Amino acid sequence: MPKETLTITDNRSGRQYEIAIDHGAIRATDLSQIKASPEDGGIVSYDPALVNTASCRSHVSFIDGDAGILRYRGYPIEELAERSSYLEVAYLIVKGELPTTTHFSMWQHNIKMHTMLHENVKRFIDGFRYDAHPMGILVGTVGALSTFYPDAKHVVALESRRMQTRRLIGKIPTIAAYAYRHSLGLPYVHPDNEFSYTGNYLSMLFRMTEAKYRPDPVLEHALDILFILHADHEQNCSSTAARVVGSSQADPYSVVAAAAAALSGPLHGGANEAVIRMLREIGSVDQIPGLIKQVKAGERRLMGFGHRVYKNYDPRARIIKRIAEQVFEVTGKNPLIDIAIELERIALQDDYFVSRKLYPNVDFYSGIIYEAMHLPVAMFPVLFAIGRTPGWLAQWQEMLLDKEQKIARPRQLYIGAPVRDYLPIEKRT
Ligand code: ACO
Repeated sequence: MPKETLTITDNRSGRQYEIAIDHGAIRATDLSQIKASPEDGGIVSYDPALVNTASCRSHVSFIDGDAGILRYRGYPIEELAERSSYLEVAYLIVKGELPTTTHFSMWQHNIKMHTMLHENVKRFIDGFRYDAHPMGILVGTVGALSTFYPDAKHVVALESRRMQTRRLIGKIPTIAAYAYRHSLGLPYVHPDNEFSYTGNYLSMLFRMTEAKYRPDPVLEHALDILFILHADHEQNCSSTAARVVGSSQADPYSVVAAAAAALSGPLHGGANEAVIRMLREIGSVDQIPGLIKQVKAGERRLMGFGHRVYKNYDPRARIIKRIAEQVFEVTGKNPLIDIAIELERIALQDDYFVSRKLYPNVDFYSGIIYEAMHLPVAMFPVLFAIGRTPGWLAQWQEMLLDKEQKIARPRQLYIGAPVRDYLPIEKRT
């Protein structure tokens, strides 16, 4: 049996070091024993953007980027999308197991008990400008919730963590719907616990003067699957933000607000919005070669393509593409789908994309569905945030319970000026 170790020779000193390999990783702290002199602090690993650094051990989700595999707690994403509901998957993500019938009805009840917002939160949302980006409203309002629930700061207390988890999963869709209604100047619609989690969200978004809003079951189911597909995704930018902020024992509202802020960028959850803007700009299939030319010249990126981990078709994109057809049967076809399909076809035959293993990611088709459901593009990352909330909470909780974790504090390689003499302002040129 070969040894699970790595032998390193330091050519500065000629010394050899044997370092353990566990789960295909060496511990970066094992490198600190490698010193050129006794005063030397030891070797550190340099990894901008943590491209090849595992920052934690996790049980939540698993991706095989080369094979295009995604599993939550061991269950393939395709099976969960086909057979489960979003709230059941949220339970799985947060608690680690699929619920029994009894546990599931308790979980549903516990989430539904927390869908309403304090009246002052509504007034807080009213304070945003009419054209405020809903993602900004979401980030700000979720952060503000920590002032409403001061018990949330007891992050070491299991009961407090459970309570904030229910509150956050319960309230996020309400905040998201109110952000949308605020942008249109429409009155807020109270949560209706008679509906499913997703049905209630659609009601809070779209109910007008009718006595009872009835969500279309196809759209309700499609949105439920979209939430499932977004529920967790390993150590992505926003989950990492959640872990880093949570590592200081900040309360979970601050943690989820920070994660949502990370999600808002166009290279992460903002990409679905950017895809629609790009497809609209293309306008028609005959304009695609022009865009591809710009992308290959390095002038712009093909939004919704490429992924740090997937070097194959993103399994979520495959499922979403299928749901799009079901949604269009209800809403009518979104003409952007033809441009998207043709763009995918051309890109996947082009050596630029093939050689770099750039495939459609989850954002390439999700926006087309949201648009067909009459949601404005600015709401797309907000929908992503609703789906991802259980993932952020699971990552946060896992980090808190992991005895190896400490406050996040990466090292740096200082490359700035050496020590300098301070000059008074009048002597500076
Ligand atoms: N269009 C064109 N070229 C691309 C794209 C793209 N979308 N993505 C990567 N490339 C190219 C890069 O230019 C680079 O080429 P080079 O080697 O000639 O310099 C190569 O592919 C590798 O790219 P990196 O930027 O090193 O890849 P990284 O893993 O850092 O980036 C990312 C991943 C940010 C997702 C990138 O692919 C991208 O910007 N995609 C578009 C935005 C997007 O869709 N984001 C959503 C991601 S999924 C999610 O967050 C839910």
